[in-house]
Amino acid sequence: MAIAAAEYQQRRQTLLAKLGQGTAIFASAPLATMHNDVEYRFRQDSDFYYLTGFNETNAIAVLAPHHEEHQFILFVQPKDPEQETWTGILTGVEAAKERYGADEAYPITELDEHLPQYLKKSDRLYYSLGRNERLDGRILRHWQRCVRKIAKNGYGPRALEDARFLLHPLRQVKSAAELMLLRQVAELSAVAHNRAQKLAKPGLYEYQVQAELEHTFAMHGAEPAYPSIVAAGANACVLHYIDNRSQLQDGDLLLIDAGGAYNYYNADITRTFPVNGKFTKQQQALYELVLAAQLKAIEEVKAGKAYNEYHDIAVCVLTQGLIDLGLLQGDLETLIEEEKYKPFYMHRTGHWLGLDVHDSGTYKVSEEDWSVFEPGNLVTVEPGLYISPTIETAEDQPDVSEEWRGIGIRIEDDVLVTETGNEVLTAGVPK
Ligand code: GLY
Ligand code: MN
Ligand code: MN
Repeated sequence: MAIAAAEYQQRRQTLLAKLGQGTAIFASAPLATMHNDVEYRFRQDSDFYYLTGFNETNAIAVLAPHHEEHQFILFVQPKDPEQETWTGILTGVEAAKERYGADEAYPITELDEHLPQYLKKSDRLYYSLGRNERLDGRILRHWQRCVRKIAKNGYGPRALEDARFLLHPLRQVKSAAELMLLRQVAELSAVAHNRAQKLAKPGLYEYQVQAELEHTFAMHGAEPAYPSIVAAGANACVLHYIDNRSQLQDGDLLLIDAGGAYNYYNADITRTFPVNGKFTKQQQALYELVLAAQLKAIEEVKAGKAYNEYHDIAVCVLTQGLIDLGLLQGDLETLIEEEKYKPFYMHRTGHWLGLDVHDSGTYKVSEEDWSVFEPGNLVTVEPGLYISPTIETAEDQPDVSEEWRGIGIRIEDDVLVTETGNEVLTAGVPK
């Protein structure tokens, strides 16, 4: 385990303290079918993993602070030698207690029998519906059974509340152990980008550059954090382009958006560079503009600043630059207010990063107010500009002359909020 058992316990203690008289239920991820009877490689549910470190499917964690004997209960797949011959060693019920710190553990097949004792005395059930429909039905039936008894008993879980609103604020502040993993994977991903940049040249195919990136991840025991985006020329104007089948042409820019994952902790890096080593005048002008926006935005990522501020400054720099280059006409304030930059810059400037690439966490705390950064927060900073190659792909994009068309640029770094400012974890790739 890369994160110590004591840290998982600490996380559960923090959550238990927030539950009051409530009971929380978290489920492992189900297996996903690739084709026929072949499954995708298993990927644990991030909430479940954050609280347990347990990496098997068909498991349920219950937190019941009000129960007399057991606060943390695991339901897991029991040992099964025949199944284990095919799919590997299962932890089993006994080891679930010893290794994962459960006060009590049961076979998952006994869920219906044992769950009621952890629900009936609670005043509220915390559970995230919609991730596993079959399980949802089962949990709802248990809850309803308890609800029907409230009138008679005088106690019971009256309300069902989504568990994420309690848990996700915890995930938003990274611990020292999490930061060690996040730093490692950021550094490895930087190595992968540098190698891919060295390899890229006209005539190569995007998938070959992808192979170089993912080879580097694999050689260090990491996996791609998300489908690698390797987008030559106008392909870069498709934000989540993952086809990666085109040939790199002399004169193209190549946009690479790729990161690795260690122990489910992710990096997310984008660089854009000329395949032949030399920018055209237009490519250079747009690149320098995106870079200026990114550097300005990074300055806004610090404790006490609201989450929207770095986006707003990026929009401001980009819009002013588009005016200076003649790609937008009008005055800065009006263009920003009317969102006239959006045909060229249609996404936000970043997101929380952690166990999920688009990590859990609160962006807005009320209709008006944004989250305020605190030390331990990790975000991406990823402004870009995308000049559609054809008018059809972006209907209200202003008509711009041919030499600008088909240029897509994004620059993305992972930025940690520290006590004194910030730290760019992905500084190992040149800009
Ligand atoms: N790689 C997806 C993103 O940058 O958000
Ligand atoms: Mn990215
Ligand atoms: Mn990103």
